[in-house]
Amino acid sequence: MKKKTAKKIGILTSGGDCPGLNAVIRAIVKIAVHAHNIEIIGFQDGYEGLIHNRFIPLGSRQASGILTIGGTILGTSNIATPYRYAVKEGKKIIYKDVSQKAIANYKRNKLDALIAIGGDGTLSAALKLKKDGLNIVGVPKTIDNDLSETDWTFGFDSAVTTATEAIDKLHSTAQSHHRVMIIEVMGRYAGWIALFSGMAGGGDVILIPEIPYRIEKICAKIKERQKLGKRFSIIVVAEGARPVGGEVVVAKIVEKSFDKIRLGGIASRLADEIERRIQIECRATILGHVQRGGTPTSFDRVLATRYGAEAINLVLRKNFGRMVALKGNKITSVPIEKAVKKLKLIPLNSGLIRSLREMNVSFGD
Ligand code: F6P
Repeated sequence: MKKKTAKKIGILTSGGDCPGLNAVIRAIVKIAVHAHNIEIIGFQDGYEGLIHNRFIPLGSRQASGILTIGGTILGTSNIATPYRYAVKEGKKIIYKDVSQKAIANYKRNKLDALIAIGGDGTLSAALKLKKDGLNIVGVPKTIDNDLSETDWTFGFDSAVTTATEAIDKLHSTAQSHHRVMIIEVMGRYAGWIALFSGMAGGGDVILIPEIPYRIEKICAKIKERQKLGKRFSIIVVAEGARPVGGEVVVAKIVEKSFDKIRLGGIASRLADEIERRIQIECRATILGHVQRGGTPTSFDRVLATRYGAEAINLVLRKNFGRMVALKGNKITSVPIEKAVKKLKLIPLNSGLIRSLREMNVSFGD
């Protein structure tokens, strides 16, 4: 009989939540328990749980009935991280390296591996833990789809579906009131959600961080449509879009977070600016966290399940320091180090951008 290579695995979900997290947890637990008789514990609230040894045992019962549920049954945090942990000293917040506590808890629980499910912040911390001796496997999660070395992150398809539905609905008011409706979608410094939902929802102008815009070009596009008898326009703008030579719009600074800047507000800026320049009524909608919630699409459920299965495979093969990934339609894995090196932005020679331009969609450039 083959020797068992893992008896006990810890998992955690960290960073912003997204649809599909529970589907990954479910796949990992079901495969570990049923196929390999491996014990699983789930740390609560991301690295917070690992640092304070807060966890729950995960068995068949906990993994049941969660496939369709948004968020994460484990809880998450985009603030707690072992190498820059915020602690209050008097009235001041200071940052400490508490990685030794996290490492000690991994050892205390006699874990053979830790599966970290998260985006670039989570996986960067996971990489450091790997360098400090832990057996780590990463699973790429983010609605932003901005992680390198994987074509898709789960959560992205669900977010695009939500954004597309919103654009479809905004068409009603745009058409009835002959207005410019501007919808701001998430994505941080990458325009994936805007590009895909803009294409799926038939946006007339799509503004993405990768292509800085000129306000005159946007106004010209609206005017051109008016001349053609189209009395409304739909603008899909990524929260990270910015004008040529200008800056992104920052909504707030979350000091304790590992990525402090929260973007948001560009849609309202654009609405004011367009109204001022060409006197057409504009309305801004900021879709916000609606994109992160709700039940995952079937695509995300399948992707999350495949990722979970591959994560267990990597642990069993002792292939640590790697992140599961999708390349084309093939599940594979890549070094975490490569995945977190740089953000995956939309290439300017993307076929999608080319097709949209050919369809006379404006990118504001
Ligand atoms: O990374 C996911 C994401 O939803 C981004 O698209 C967005 O900029 C950010 O997180 C919002 O973060 P928070 O939940 O802290 O407001």
